[in-house]
Amino acid sequence: MDAFGGGKVILLGEHSVVYGHPALAAGLGVGASARVVRAPRDQLVVNPWDVTVSPDSAEPLGQALAAALSLYPERHPVRVEADVAIPGGAGLGCSAALGVAVIAALDEHFGVDRTPSERGEVSLSWEQVFHGTPSGVDNTMAAVGGIALYRKGHPLEPIRARHPLCLVIAHSGEASSTKEVVSMVRRQHEKDTARIDELFEAIAVLVRNARLAVEGGDIKSVGQLMDMNQGLLSALMLSTESLERLCRSARAAGALGAKLTGAGGGGCMIALAPDLEAAEAIRSELAEHATWTAVAEAGARAS
Ligand code: MEV
Repeated sequence: MDAFGGGKVILLGEHSVVYGHPALAAGLGVGASARVVRAPRDQLVVNPWDVTVSPDSAEPLGQALAAALSLYPERHPVRVEADVAIPGGAGLGCSAALGVAVIAALDEHFGVDRTPSERGEVSLSWEQVFHGTPSGVDNTMAAVGGIALYRKGHPLEPIRARHPLCLVIAHSGEASSTKEVVSMVRRQHEKDTARIDELFEAIAVLVRNARLAVEGGDIKSVGQLMDMNQGLLSALMLSTESLERLCRSARAAGALGAKLTGAGGGGCMIALAPDLEAAEAIRSELAEHATWTAVAEAGARAS
């Protein structure tokens, strides 16, 4: 069986998580898969992108492969073949999912035993190639899955949701570079540290309340807290016309809350639906404004 790395959505808390605040995230049942075979030289092939790289390539993917291979000092050359089932540059943790799938496949091939959270940790070096200063939430969630509270430097706190979270994910069609957007927020933070810290504190309060609401099965409150988080993300200039339109349409179609997810500045929006049937109805309303849509039951592939 192929090794797997999951995509993720941040339910609440993106960006503030980079500054040490908690984020509430959920692993997706889709992401990336990979397999490894012995080969004359090291290579990574990402099938749907029609991309082949070697570890000495200057491209980020080649450097990421080099970082992954450096985890296995004594080894023969390999060819890693990967498939990706989620859009990249969309806030769904595609690069982390790919990194975790590649490392899980290499672990299997070379007989290295790691727990999912250890695999999440070692995948940080892969993620750093793409994102510079990632908080670690994407690689951790890609390896561990489920619904969890993530805080940099603290053990991941798995969360038992009383009711599954039925999410609609819609891609605005605008590409988003996590690296650039995180740098933009950093510049705002450097310029007006007190105001941005206040916004981050406010987001952290929403995250803590959302955690309690998820545990207590109070889905309506989770939705309201997501809406409030979206307001604060807009104040950080992270939303776009298209993301706002998707959020409005989702709410009008019955969503309990909606917000951008991931870095923002483009990429995906998530909306919380009362149940799967409502999620499908919201998804079909959004289809005309989005380039990609999905319905996911958050935490469905919990480990
Ligand atoms: C990216 O999925 C989430 C951000 O908070 C960046 C990070 O946590 O590394 C924007």
